[in-house]
Amino acid sequence: MARETIMQFDLFDSGSNTILGSPTYQEFKEQLIASGCTKCGLHAGRTQIVVDRGNPAAPVMVVGEGPGEKEDQQGLAFVGRAGRMFDQIMNAVGIDTNQDMFIANVVKCRPPDNRSPHADEAATCLPFLRRQIELVAPRIILLLGATALKHFDKSKSNFQMSDEAGKFFTLPDFPSTQFMVLYHPAALLYNAKLKPAMWQHAKTLRRYLDQHGLLGKLGRPQQKVANQGTATSS
Ligand code: URA
Repeated sequence: MARETIMQFDLFDSGSNTILGSPTYQEFKEQLIASGCTKCGLHAGRTQIVVDRGNPAAPVMVVGEGPGEKEDQQGLAFVGRAGRMFDQIMNAVGIDTNQDMFIANVVKCRPPDNRSPHADEAATCLPFLRRQIELVAPRIILLLGATALKHFDKSKSNFQMSDEAGKFFTLPDFPSTQFMVLYHPAALLYNAKLKPAMWQHAKTLRRYLDQHGLLGKLGRPQQKVANQGTATSS
C-alpha cells in the first residue's frame, strides 16, 4: 500500500511558514512557543505549548503521544509518571534520556483528561513534529505506543502493539532514519506484564546504538549495560 505523507503545510499560512521555516532548532522552538498556536482545539485547555525535552544533538529521537498534566505544568515532555518509567528503563541499559535522547510528542498541547489526540489534532500538529525531525536529524526514532505509530505509518490502522513493539522499520518519507516501535511507558504503569518485553526491547535498542557507534558520538563515556535486572519497579 502506498504510504501517505504526514506533511500538511498551508502555503498561505504565514504564521506556520515563519515557524516551519526557522533555520535552527532553537529558533523553531522559540517561534513555536511565541506563536501561541491556536490551530486546533487543544490550545483551549493547555497551560503552555510543550515542545520537547532532552538533547537536540542526540542520535535518538523519541516520539510520544502528547503532554499530560505534569508536562503541561512544567513545559517539558515526559516528566510525569510515564516519563519517569521511561527514564528508569533507559537508565537500566545505560541510556540517559536527557543526554542521549531528544523527546517530543505527536501533539504539543495537552489533550483534555489525557485522552489520545484526535486525527485532526494530530494532522494539524504533525508539520511541527516533522520540522523538529528535519532540524535535529536523528539517526533513530523511537515511536512510543500506538498513537505515535499510526500517525507516522499511515498504512497501520488496525494493529496490535504486541505485534509491533520491538520492531524496526523504515519509511520512504524519512530515508535516513531507522524507526523502532516501543510500548508507551504509560501502558507499563497499567499492565506490569508488558515490562519484560519492554526490557528486552530496551536492550535491543542499546545493542543497535552500540553496533552503529551512536552513543559514543556524543563524546561522553559510555555506561555499561546492566547484566541483570528487570526494570520492573514503577
Ligand atoms: N505521555 C506522552 O505521550 N507524552 C508526554 O510528554 C507525557 C506523557
